[in-house]
Amino acid sequence: MEPIVRNKRIDEDLFLKMREPVLALWPTGREVDLDEAVEYQKNLPESKNFHKITERLHREGTMSVFPRAGTALVEDQISLYRKLVETGVLYLPVTTDSYSRQLQFARVEAALEETRKTGRKILNGYPLINHGVRQTRRIIESVDKGAFDPRLSLKSYPLASEIAFASGMTGIAACPFISWGAYEKTATIEESMATNQYVHRLMGYYADRGVLLSADNHGWIVTGIQPMTVNLATTVADALMCAEQGVKSVISVVHLMGNLAQDLAWIRIAPKLIREYLDRFGYKDVMVPGTFAQHTPIFPMPQTTGGAFAFPSYTAVVAALGKVEGVFLRTIDEALGIPTEESHAQTYEAAGWLFNVIRGQNIDFHMEEIDEEARLAELEIRAILERLLEIGEGDIIVGCVKGVEAGFIDSSFSPNRQVKDLVTAVKDSRGAIRYKDFGNLPLPEEVKEFHREKLAQRKKAEGRKMDYEVYVQDFWAFSKGQLIGRA
Ligand code: 5AD
Repeated sequence: MEPIVRNKRIDEDLFLKMREPVLALWPTGREVDLDEAVEYQKNLPESKNFHKITERLHREGTMSVFPRAGTALVEDQISLYRKLVETGVLYLPVTTDSYSRQLQFARVEAALEETRKTGRKILNGYPLINHGVRQTRRIIESVDKGAFDPRLSLKSYPLASEIAFASGMTGIAACPFISWGAYEKTATIEESMATNQYVHRLMGYYADRGVLLSADNHGWIVTGIQPMTVNLATTVADALMCAEQGVKSVISVVHLMGNLAQDLAWIRIAPKLIREYLDRFGYKDVMVPGTFAQHTPIFPMPQTTGGAFAFPSYTAVVAALGKVEGVFLRTIDEALGIPTEESHAQTYEAAGWLFNVIRGQNIDFHMEEIDEEARLAELEIRAILERLLEIGEGDIIVGCVKGVEAGFIDSSFSPNRQVKDLVTAVKDSRGAIRYKDFGNLPLPEEVKEFHREKLAQRKKAEGRKMDYEVYVQDFWAFSKGQLIGRA
């Protein structure tokens, strides 16, 4: 079916009408007054602006952790952010709880009530919508630096982003693929495009009035072991969608898979490709102030104390060598549940130690393998993007919607039923991720041959077929402190 959503800027009058039912979802929606919010944002210091912080870190050649964090009560949030800022964190996440993500506001109220009465923690994050603008501003005003950025869900994006920006948050991950591909079962990609377009348009409204808000673009977060081809192609698509709605600052987010050459190659090419495609479509005034990295794939966490420190520290090392501005690390107690203030602090102290020592050496890190991986990944990403633009007749949204249907963009083990799921991958002997089944990905033959060759080498070395068993073992490898899965 021909998609209805187009990559075309939403007319302002229409957008203002679209906002009405969104703000009516919960009483705190009435606290959002756009003109007042623009003024509030303009009075925030640069030390709280996501874009400005990123520009400064880039200029200074330093970096910060961008954690995930959120707790139910305003007072606890204040204490948590003070601790994070004290530990040197400049990107302050507002991870919302699961009820808020499902718009179950009455359940949030009941849980807050119980927590206030008994101290028992029920919510697994900060209920941004229930607390609303006035309460959330108290949090943002409680620290003197740090950019706030909410972590939301497909359902909650419109209202939660309204409240987030009106409260003084200056960054957001509003990417159609992230929630659709990694968190949703039945939502369609087109639905997700439309919802995210609302958020981008809201950011455009602020931008038109001189308020710079950043979009950290994650692309399609793959839910298993898979090269980042599809992910990075979709971060470029994210950037084009944001830009069309008037967003002026996009962050290139790169997801790592654990092989140094591959990870550093992706970090190298991602911002370059985003810049190139933005320019090609005429969005020359859209800035890409920095690059972020994270080991996102849902690897089972290491379950020994040593492993729990080693894993985030390894991420910190790769990110430091990649000279990125921000990095998300799992906390040392990720395997146990919601992190405590202390474990947040200990994890980021360890990371900060590595950042200082590694970045201080200003290493110009060269490896032949990085160049090779970068060349191949670039071929893959360009091939996908060109195919999407071709079937979308130049419209990236149409291209992505059709691309999902055709499996030109695809991932393995997605929770979403709409995903083709024809692609599989395993690691090669050095832990780089290689496609085993290409599905319908429109990759050049040269690239496919390279992947096949690498897997043939591992097959020979281990004398076994590269099958589902290997996949499962590779998936568990990091958890066991191994690079690749062992029989
Ligand atoms: N505090 C800290 N981290 C959280 N995550 C989810 N909720 C919270 C929270 N309230 C983490 C997950 C995962 C990432 C997506 O966010 O554990 O690492």
